[in-house]
Amino acid sequence: MGSIQTALASTRGPSAGAAVTKPGVVGYLDRLYASPGDEVVVRVSVLDGTGRYRAELVRLICGETGPGGPGLKEEVIPTSLAGEHAGSAQAVPIGSYAIVEDIPPLEPVEFSLLVWPTLPARGTQALMAAGPVRLQLDRAGAVALSVEDETISTDVPLRPRTWYAVEGRYDPATGSASVRSEPLPGIHAHRIAHKRGRLRAGVTASGPLLIAAAPGAAGVSLHFNGKIEAPVLRSSGLAAAWDFSRAIGTARIEDKSRHGLHGRTVNAPKRAVTGAGWDGSVHDWRQDPSHYAAIHFHADDLHDAGWQPSLRFRLPDTLKSGYYAVKLTASGMPFHVGFIVSPAHDAPRARLAVLASTVTYLAYANYRRRMSPGPFELTMGTLPTVDMTDVLLAEHPEFGSSTYDVHKDGFGVGHASALRPLFNMRPTGRFWNFAMDLCLIDWLEAQGIAYDVISEHELQERGADLLKSYRTVLTPSHPEYYSLEMLLSLESYLGMGGRFMYLGGNGFYWRVTFDPAHPGMIELRRAEDGTRAWAEQPGQYYHATGEYGGLWRRIGRPPNRLVGTGFIAQGFDASSYYRRTKDSRDPRAAFLFEGIEDEIIGDFGAWGNGAAGLEIDAFDFTLGSPPHGLIVASSENHSNAFLLVNEEMLSNSRGVDGTLNSRIKADIVFFETPAGGAVFSTGSIAFVASLAHDNYRNNVSRMLRNAVDRFLDPTPFNIPER
Ligand SMILES: [Fe+2]
Repeated sequence: MGSIQTALASTRGPSAGAAVTKPGVVGYLDRLYASPGDEVVVRVSVLDGTGRYRAELVRLICGETGPGGPGLKEEVIPTSLAGEHAGSAQAVPIGSYAIVEDIPPLEPVEFSLLVWPTLPARGTQALMAAGPVRLQLDRAGAVALSVEDETISTDVPLRPRTWYAVEGRYDPATGSASVRSEPLPGIHAHRIAHKRGRLRAGVTASGPLLIAAAPGAAGVSLHFNGKIEAPVLRSSGLAAAWDFSRAIGTARIEDKSRHGLHGRTVNAPKRAVTGAGWDGSVHDWRQDPSHYAAIHFHADDLHDAGWQPSLRFRLPDTLKSGYYAVKLTASGMPFHVGFIVSPAHDAPRARLAVLASTVTYLAYANYRRRMSPGPFELTMGTLPTVDMTDVLLAEHPEFGSSTYDVHKDGFGVGHASALRPLFNMRPTGRFWNFAMDLCLIDWLEAQGIAYDVISEHELQERGADLLKSYRTVLTPSHPEYYSLEMLLSLESYLGMGGRFMYLGGNGFYWRVTFDPAHPGMIELRRAEDGTRAWAEQPGQYYHATGEYGGLWRRIGRPPNRLVGTGFIAQGFDASSYYRRTKDSRDPRAAFLFEGIEDEIIGDFGAWGNGAAGLEIDAFDFTLGSPPHGLIVASSENHSNAFLLVNEEMLSNSRGVDGTLNSRIKADIVFFETPAGGAVFSTGSIAFVASLAHDNYRNNVSRMLRNAVDRFLDPTPFNIPER
């Protein structure tokens, strides 16, 4: 069990031993990127009860605060934001449900639906609620009808992960009420349960109708966990029947009756999930949506925290493109609300752009596994390390989870939304993603190389047009999550002769989709195979948008095709070094080694003391690495914590660790592309963390400098004849 005070190499924060306490304030922006001149809205919640906080805009240059590192570098930018502000705590209405607004008074009322509970007997959970009348699972997990404070229950708990038809009736004229649950036919059929009785008379069920939650004095509550299908509402003269197989891929629920009582979902419950009618014969919901007539609700789904705007400010017109944060400070550590400032549309561009991995930052946002040690320690091969911001996140489940976590009912979290505080868009803390990527920014600054920072979210919106004016585009350390549109834009850029550097590992790995019905949110389904935090359920490999989810490698676009390398192994205990290869003597690669005499590259660095580590990628022409690609250096001597990724294995066997398996290596690859462009890939997340070693005078820094200089030189690259 890791101590929260432990400061190991994987965490970068205020110097070890300093008295730090949790951030007293958190916030989020209305977007992950902006341009000079744009207005930015900041939503703030003051958690420490002081009612006050300070805000300022900072440009982030470096977050590497480990021993001997360059230290935290942030530059305060004068804006109207600067100063002290009054604020208060803002609640997060976590939990998904559906709502139908225009329901007339219901006398009598009858609810019926199909239900597949995942956490029965974990508190009262509403199935359908109309004002003071609701059908619910009671604390024992039995179907119950509640009228104000009186309840009638079948007293037979539902079994988890089993389909039931359930119903409840109430007549306010007499107070007569009944409830019933009946398992759908199946090989584990359970018992029918019903109860008849009398509840208080004279109470009118009224709208709005909530499905999978109930209205309460302090907001929506009693969230249900599990799947619901085909809810039906009957009253004298009214019947409505919602068909969740319609409008999949939207936030709408459609009433198929003539009354047209359509509604909407809140907090993005999962659509395109298998329903009671799924028999395994259909896997793409679009083929037969009737198999997908369910919605999976979770009490811990979150799309939009919905906070009131706290501050608005305009980014100065002359603001330099880069990594930025709105830095909020109350008691304790500051809370950085990170975002990217990209150049304005019509502004002059640098020749080089860093393509910030905002989609991957979002996929990792509010990662909670670090705070539940156990298996995590075995994965890491070391003690998990956290800082006080992680502690704050653990104390606030309402900020939602990451796509690495599972919901309380064990199903994977497949959505990530930017409309909530994001705990990983900060310069310090776990040395990963955003924080680690600043090593590249720091190096560009130290080298005096002019650059712009653009973001993957902007790439999704603008396509290859965003890239075309750049001679060279660089990724930072871990561009793992990509949409089809983003991949096609990169391919198009390479097709135009663009030069591309992939300075990371485990990139271009999972498919994500952007859901127009839920702005700010991405979806992913960890389908079929891959190194996964959880596995998608059978029959649910297609996203709600209709795209087939999973590894790009399995969908037919392996990263090797784009950048020459693909994920081969991961290990988090220590990093290693690269050794030059025979290919590095090829005249085509000579430019990379100018001024480098060493055979060993990168036997130093801020992550695990080596440039090759964490997650590493290798050349494999069977997966599409170009046959003319040069492997100019390969890592070696990885520990037994580095294990071959499971998508590389047909069956498990011995010899899959770094001490035994020669395939476990990071390859530095260079190749030319048809229109005079080229690609340079380093195959390791740890690579950028070595750049600052010895005051930026080292062979990793030199190799990257050589690569950048040549990639910025307009002289075309030529694909070799043979
Ligand atoms: Fe990752």
